[in-house]
Order: sequence, then C-alpha cells, then structure tokens
Amino acid sequence: MIQPATRRVPLSAPWLDERDEELVLETLRSGWLSLGPTGPRFEELLAEAAGARHCAAVSSGTAGLHLSMRLAGVGPGDEVITSPFSFVASANCAIYEGATPVFADVDPRTYNLDPAAVEAAITERTKAIVAVDIFGYPCELDPLIELCDRHGIPLVEDACEALGARYKGRPLGSHGHPTVFAFYPNKQITTGEGGAVTTNDEGEHELLVSLRNQGRLETSSWLLHGRLGYNYRLDDVSAALGIGQLEKLDRILAGRAEVAARYTQLLAGAGVEPPLADDEDHVRSWFVYVVKLPAGSDRDAVAAQMQERGVATAPYVPSIHLQPYMRDRYGFREGMLPVSEDCSARTLALPFHARLDRDDQGYVVETLRTVLQ
Ligand SMILES: Cc1ncc(COP(=O)(O)O)c(C=O)c1O
Repeated sequence: MIQPATRRVPLSAPWLDERDEELVLETLRSGWLSLGPTGPRFEELLAEAAGARHCAAVSSGTAGLHLSMRLAGVGPGDEVITSPFSFVASANCAIYEGATPVFADVDPRTYNLDPAAVEAAITERTKAIVAVDIFGYPCELDPLIELCDRHGIPLVEDACEALGARYKGRPLGSHGHPTVFAFYPNKQITTGEGGAVTTNDEGEHELLVSLRNQGRLETSSWLLHGRLGYNYRLDDVSAALGIGQLEKLDRILAGRAEVAARYTQLLAGAGVEPPLADDEDHVRSWFVYVVKLPAGSDRDAVAAQMQERGVATAPYVPSIHLQPYMRDRYGFREGMLPVSEDCSARTLALPFHARLDRDDQGYVVETLRTVLQ
C-alpha cells in the first residue's frame, strides 16, 4: 500500500511580493476603489506590454470575450467558429449573444486551430472566428487573418493564456484585431479576477469602454445609458495589483521559461511528448507545462497516482464540445473532432509556476517516471 505523501506540489502559484502589497495598499488608502486613476495606468502599461494602441481592462477574460462578440456584431442565428481544445469561455461567449458555436479541429502539434479546418467550417452564417492561443502558444495568425479578410469575417483572439507570447516577432495584442487577456491567479500575471481587451481600432476601444460600464456614453452623465451594457469594470485595487505584476512581467516570463526548459530536460526519455518548442514565428509565453502521454495510456489513473504521491496535475483541457451542457444543447458527440478528442484524452498539466522549487520539480518528474513504469 502506498504511504500518504508528505511532500505536496501544487499545480500553480501566483508570484506576489511586497511591491504588489505596497501598490494595493496605496490604492486602498486613497479611498478611490473604482473608476479612479489606477485603472487607466494599468491599461497603459498593459497596452505597452502587448504592443497595442488601446487597452480596456475588464472584470475577467470571459467578460472580454463576451464584449468582443458585441464588437463583431454577433447575434441570434449566427455561427462563431472556435477551437474545441480550449476553456469553455472561448465558445460560451458566442452562446451569450444567441449564436451557435461551431468547432474546427486542431493541429496535434500546437493544439491550436488548424486554419484549413476553420476554412472548411465557414458558412454564410459565420459571423466571427475566435482563435485561441492555447497554453500560451501563438495560433496561426497570418493564415487566419488572411482567411478572415477574404471572407469578411471579424477575428477575435483569445490570448487569455498567452500574455507575452510573440507571433512573427510581434507580441500578441499588437496585430490589430481585438485580443483578450485574462488574469486569474494561475495566469502569467494576476489581478485576482480580471481581464483586458486590446485593439488598434479607436472605435472598437470606445465601444468596449462603454459596454463594460453599463453602456454609458463618454459624454453622458452617470444615469444616462446609450446602449445595453454590462458591469464588466475592473476595480482599482485589482488594477493596482496588475501594475505590480506588469512591473515584473519580464522576470515572471523568464522564470516560467526556465522552469519549462528544466522540465523538458528532466523528462528526456520518460516516454511523454513534451510541449512543442518555439520556432522563428512562434514564441510561447509559458502558461502551463502540458505533456502528452502515449496513445492508450490511462491518463486519469496516472493523475490519480500522482495525486496519491502529493503531486497535483490537471487534465488540460477537455474538449469543449463534449462537455455535458454542450452535448445536451447541440447533440455533439465523440468522434466529431478526433484530433482534439485524442489530445484531451492524453494531455496532463504538471505543477508549474515561475518560482517552482528545483527539488519539487525533480520530485514531480521522478514521480511521473515511477507512475508511468
Ligand atoms: C483560453 C481561455 N479563455 C478564456 C478564459 C476565461 O478567463 P476568465 O477565467 O478570466 O474568465 C480562460 C481562463 O482560464 C482561458 O484559459
């Protein structure tokens, strides 16, 4: 019988330090907790980091995706194409506006949308494409932009897991179309809950600012609402934390890249497929470290045995179309998106964050090797 593990290695941990505390305290003491000066400062720094002209902070990545559907004019009867190998919010945003999610299959190497599959899924009802940079690896932006331009379909990028990643030498967020980031505590930077939408289009930015603030118009008084909006504002305390996080973004990204490189080294010969390495066009921002187990492996049993030994893992990510509510609502079934389904059955996220202890990391790899044997 296996002894209960004494060592515990959590899946993720935010990098919080005294500078974050100082900034949060300063905002708390100012008494200006919402719609103060801290939000715009955070947005400025984020726009700079993403190389975008405009940035609107919002209350979550999901809120940002929802507003992006409003920007694209998505409504009842429309279809929105996205990746099945993602977090549910990538598809839910379309449903919120009465549209139907349509899934195109992914590339088994990158786990991102295969542009040929996207093109094949386009119909006269396609109103938007939500491309995801899963696990921080940039999606095939140029082919996607090209096909969106050719078909006259707006592109929204779900970069919720990818702040700091670069495509063809430029940061995600700098390519012009609405790009959504998220700051839940397992992300590269955190604001507790929070998100942001960047765009290079001034009109889109103005609409985002209005929509997140109950549809108020820039010139209108507090109780005058020009359109149907939401309360998707990010409060100033969260924005203050975001500033502290952005100040150390380079260190966070470098730390995560170092931990990832060490995993890849330690896992050599362990019989698992490591995450795809960067190339000239794609530079990942490390969000999670996900390995693919050999075909036929019992991934859930591996995860359970890791857990017994104190190592947290996660089955990142289940295919969205096979979630219970998706099956019930749209009749989606196994076999519809074979690549995504195969990846979902075999991928496993290991404990990962910028300051993962070397000994803990060694223990994770040793445990995985033992369990796989
Ligand atoms: C790919 C992707 N899209 C959207 C979201 C939603 O972000 P949030 O949890 O901030 O709403 C997440 C968050 O986990 C995500 O990973």
